Amino acid sequence: MDIDKLLEMLNKAFADEWLAYYQYWLGAKVAKGPMKDAVIAELAQHAGDELRHADMVAMRIIQIGGIPVTTPKKWFELSHCGYAAPEDPQVEALLKQNIKGEQCAIGVYKSILDATAQKDPVTYNMVLQILQDEVQHEEDLQSLQEDLTGIIKHTRK
Ligand SMILES: [Fe+2]
Ligand SMILES: [Fe+2]
Repeated sequence: MDIDKLLEMLNKAFADEWLAYYQYWLGAKVAKGPMKDAVIAELAQHAGDELRHADMVAMRIIQIGGIPVTTPKKWFELSHCGYAAPEDPQVEALLKQNIKGEQCAIGVYKSILDATAQKDPVTYNMVLQILQDEVQHEEDLQSLQEDLTGIIKHTRK
């Protein structure tokens, strides 16, 4: 396993986690519209999970001799998934941008799984745990989006 390559992948994922954390954290503060309370609770819970993921990835980077990205400025340079500002606080818009973020995160962690399979069981295991959370996040947001679509259809009848 090429350690430099692995460190690069992990630092990119680390940057993604911080941006995802902030995107959820702020989304949970500004959210408006139908089912606001349920959406806020979900976004806040996801924010906590992303911060925990950042912690897990940072610990592994340090264990294998690297340094987690030292400045927030670099998060944008390294990030795969970027940052979608919650400028439109309507719950529909927030769900849409966070679903996109989760789909990106799922792709990122799948590629790290592929790169570490049979080579680095510790990183593989950690990434698998994170991937399971991201899949769950995506599903939870999708189901809120479905409920929301149902409510909107109902009120427009
Ligand atoms: Fe995450
Ligand atoms: Fe997530």
